[in-house]
Amino acid sequence: MTSRVDGPLKVTGRAKYGADNNFAGMAYGYVVLSTIAHGEIEAMDVTAAKSAPGVLGVYSPFDPLELRAPTSPILGATWVPLQDKEVTYYGQPIGFVVAETFEQARDAAMLVEVSYHRRPALTSLRDGLASAEDAPPTARQEPASLEVLAPGVESIEDALAASPVVVEATYTTATQNHAAMEPHSAVAVWGPDGLTVYSGNQGSDLQAADLAAALDTDLSSVHAVNPFVGGAFGGKGRTSVPAFLAAAAARVLDRPVKAALTREQVFTATAGRAATVQTIALGADPDGTLIALRHDSWCSTDTGRSFVEPTSHGTSREWYATQNLAISQKVVPLNVPPTTFMRAPGEAPGSFALESAIDELAVALDMDPIELRLRNNSTAPPGKDLQWSSKHLDECFRVGAARFGWANRSPRGRTDGDWLVGLGMATAMFPALRFPATVEITLREDDTAVVATSGADPGTGLLTVLSLVGAESLDIPPERVTPRLGDSAFPPGGMSGGSTGTASAGTAIMIAAAKVLDDLAALASSPGAPFEGMEVSYADGRVLAGGRAMTFGELLRAVDHASISATGSSAPGEELTKHSFSSFGAQFCEVRVHRWTREARVSRMLGVFDAGRIINEKAARSQLSGGMIWGVSAALHEGLEIEANGRPANADLAGYLLPVNADIPDVEVHFVEYPDTLHNAVGARGLGEIGTVGMAAAVANAVHNATGIRVRHIPIVIEDLL
Ligand code: MOS
Repeated sequence: MTSRVDGPLKVTGRAKYGADNNFAGMAYGYVVLSTIAHGEIEAMDVTAAKSAPGVLGVYSPFDPLELRAPTSPILGATWVPLQDKEVTYYGQPIGFVVAETFEQARDAAMLVEVSYHRRPALTSLRDGLASAEDAPPTARQEPASLEVLAPGVESIEDALAASPVVVEATYTTATQNHAAMEPHSAVAVWGPDGLTVYSGNQGSDLQAADLAAALDTDLSSVHAVNPFVGGAFGGKGRTSVPAFLAAAAARVLDRPVKAALTREQVFTATAGRAATVQTIALGADPDGTLIALRHDSWCSTDTGRSFVEPTSHGTSREWYATQNLAISQKVVPLNVPPTTFMRAPGEAPGSFALESAIDELAVALDMDPIELRLRNNSTAPPGKDLQWSSKHLDECFRVGAARFGWANRSPRGRTDGDWLVGLGMATAMFPALRFPATVEITLREDDTAVVATSGADPGTGLLTVLSLVGAESLDIPPERVTPRLGDSAFPPGGMSGGSTGTASAGTAIMIAAAKVLDDLAALASSPGAPFEGMEVSYADGRVLAGGRAMTFGELLRAVDHASISATGSSAPGEELTKHSFSSFGAQFCEVRVHRWTREARVSRMLGVFDAGRIINEKAARSQLSGGMIWGVSAALHEGLEIEANGRPANADLAGYLLPVNADIPDVEVHFVEYPDTLHNAVGARGLGEIGTVGMAAAVANAVHNATGIRVRHIPIVIEDLL
């Protein structure tokens, strides 16, 4: 079992996160937020704040720090604060106070008086449905609607009408926030060479590019450093408001500036997951064969329409073999904080709806839900000719059913004393993607190697993957590899998002390793070198020829080189024209509902996953069990409640419920391991996000099995089960 290389630093508090950096002369910033959901700022009286003790600067739309909105290929435009007087949601950043201490900045911020010209606010998805719009193209360039019909079928409604068995229902999911343990924060320092920013994010090179664009400065003079990130999950893909403001204020004040959001501010001054409403209609033959699938989705978004939660595309587009498929995706702009990527965007809420509906169909057909899923297992996404590169979902179902004791399940649950006990299951899928990545490998004369890429490890275990794949590619033990990431000075590693890290960086490592070993061979046989003129080979960290062997360190010393380096790059390419790629899984859970109190408790969970080759089993297991716990959280705990005036009612970790140890029983994760070298040379597909997919439906399906009550929204609360 390989433990995380950064584990000891993290658990002993020695890992330095962004806000842990301190500099002489550092000032502290505090972000001021709006207290209305919609309107225009008429005036901001900052007189009292400016004369408060220790205050160095008060910035507002009337006296702004100059910032430009950056754009990136994956995320599109990123909003920057203080550039206009429009307020479009409660808790929007509208000011920034910088003082000698954090307390002085916070106290002065309380003295800022804001007057608004208010406009009516629309803050509820239900109320906004009437003003729904077709979704704009998403990051995956999906159209707002899509229809695949069998020959001779005129419409999805005809296909449904012709189906012997039909179920149709509407499902809703709550607004969520990533609520990462490390609140968004930054320390910005300007020096003779430019700007250095220490701030947790999902890709240091992307952060450097964002800041350079925002500050209208040269990219080469911006250095982003993020060796440790206290959770991101999509919520740190964009550069944060504290990072923009700290960097701009540090330039104006010519002092290092630290800014961090409070826990409460994180819920509005960043971005979260949309609420969704989804209607699904399934038509089937009595034997369970799906004839038609219609999935219409509505998601909330902010008035800037910053993100589409692609529930229809994320699930129904690819999950089941069906002759007739119609999906649509609409957005509902509201006066709420921006929406963005959050762990399995699309698939997490989408799978709650689809996998609940499939369970409802199984009940209507009086069929085992695993049997129903096996019957509709697809060899390629409907409407696409490209077959899955490697799909062992059927094995996940069978192995999971055997390990979980599914055969003992009764269609009406069972009782255990005062507890009603039910079993539920669901499918999990998440697309296998990779992004462009570049890695540099350096072989050093002390027989160690450095594997470096800019990237980020927001808890995913990527740092450890660099050492493991690096060691394998160089044929040396992982202890002799120093992995480095989280620094924009390293070659561009792209974004730690979309469950891509291992596939992207791993492939680049293999290419870089092949290059550096070629260079080593050339060096070994060069004139004057120990293997001059010989054909050398390489194994076990050694150069070999003519019955002689030297470690690469010995060789480098012999030719007077402290080190040699090579970079390797990889990007998705030709494989995309040959196959479809996804990771797969089967989620199982047992839920107990108390006969009298009606509390629902998950008592057992099992996930069986098919994610290609597993590089680090311990980290993979922890990613997946963490994801499954996240699914339980979505099912039974999490939801941001937004009041009619736009104020979140539970913007803290007391009111925004998350599962604690007592809510989570033993979680079992099992792999069926089939390396997928059609996807990338490493053979690993993504597994960061799939753990959460399907879990909320598995819980709801188990609740139904236990109680006979079908709850079509999450989170499920006691009142739903009375
Ligand atoms: Mo991913 S939405 O960056 O966890």
